[in-house]
Amino acid sequence: MKILGKIALASILSLGVLYAGSAPKEYPKGPVGEMVKLGEQIMLHTSTHPLTKDLVGNKLNCASCHLKGADGKPGTGDGIGSFIGTATSFPAYSKREKTVQTLQDRTNNCFMRSMNGKRPIVDSEASMAMYTYITWLSTGMPMKMNEKAPLSPHNMKIWPKNFKKFAKIQKKATHDNYLNGKKLYATKCAMCHGQNGQGMGSFPPVWGKNAKGEWLAYNTGAGMSKLNKGAAWVQSNMPLGQGGSLSDKEAADIMLFVNAQERADFDLQKGLLPKEVMGYYNSNVLKEKHSVRSNFRALGLDIDVIRGDKKIK
Ligand code: HEC
Ligand code: HEC
Repeated sequence: MKILGKIALASILSLGVLYAGSAPKEYPKGPVGEMVKLGEQIMLHTSTHPLTKDLVGNKLNCASCHLKGADGKPGTGDGIGSFIGTATSFPAYSKREKTVQTLQDRTNNCFMRSMNGKRPIVDSEASMAMYTYITWLSTGMPMKMNEKAPLSPHNMKIWPKNFKKFAKIQKKATHDNYLNGKKLYATKCAMCHGQNGQGMGSFPPVWGKNAKGEWLAYNTGAGMSKLNKGAAWVQSNMPLGQGGSLSDKEAADIMLFVNAQERADFDLQKGLLPKEVMGYYNSNVLKEKHSVRSNFRALGLDIDVIRGDKKIK
């Protein structure tokens, strides 16, 4: 009895944490509804949509990481990256930009990092559409704002806790962890993302360039490129349809391997359109650069030692 009670309680608790919800059943009427639908299309096809393709520098879409739930809509999946409740958190404080930001700021900044491209103009149709779509996913939910981070209540519960856990694990990483990650990637991930990270069909790339020399995946300024954050997201969402199945060690080692591969450097200034085009950029941080090497150094790791190119003295 006691054990059964514990199991029941545990499953109720985990439902509370893992269940994010789904989109409202109906679109709003008139122009607002049209804007929601446009935003949804942009999120699904960001790298090819006429309103955003020129601002994207890889082959990803917002929906590549803000996964579709059972209703097929971007950002309604239950794992880390859900957009259910996101709009209730803004305006929110962002440590990265050292500013209080709007949902549009947050959304547009992803273009410079996860999308390896340029930040859209805040008043542009694309930016308004994504803002309207994400807001629609919080219909009926109470306004909260967020003094600590630009994250929804749902993501706030499962994201920082998990990436802190992985930082502790990955700070101790060695070349053996890298080799283990490489082996696991080949057996658990490569059938969809490709042996060389190049993606396959509708399965998105995770690193590298194509034959034309174009970058395929997120750059080194993206959350996903940080070893610990990438591991937290992957443990929550991958392999597709089996989120939560990787052990801590597996997720940590796989992303140690994936994020050691070649990807674009991040330079904030290059992600911004010329000032006369972009208008005001709501941030108190105007210089920021990252590389694969610096992302490893951020956890006290030497990429050459981890990859086995250099022996420890
Ligand atoms: C390479 C993966 C990736 C891609 C592509 C990506 N994001 Fe994200 N995004 C993340 C991660 C990781 C987080 C932080 C975890 C979280 O908040 O759930 C995040 C957080 C966000 C948040 C805050 C969500 C919240 O409530 O916590 C918004 C809004 C957002 N992204 C918008 C976008 C938009 C719009 C696009 C497409 C233009 C996009 N993202 C593309 C990985 C990605
Ligand atoms: C059954 C196919 C499948 C498997 C296996 C799989 N993925 Fe994915 N993965 C996907 C799909 C599909 C998406 C994008 C979701 C969408 O477009 O709806 C994705 C998205 C991602 C992303 C974010 C987008 C990007 O390309 O950067 C990462 C990172 C990722 N997967 C890593 C992994 C890792 C690591 C593994 C192995 C543990 C793995 N995946 C296993 C299908 C798969």
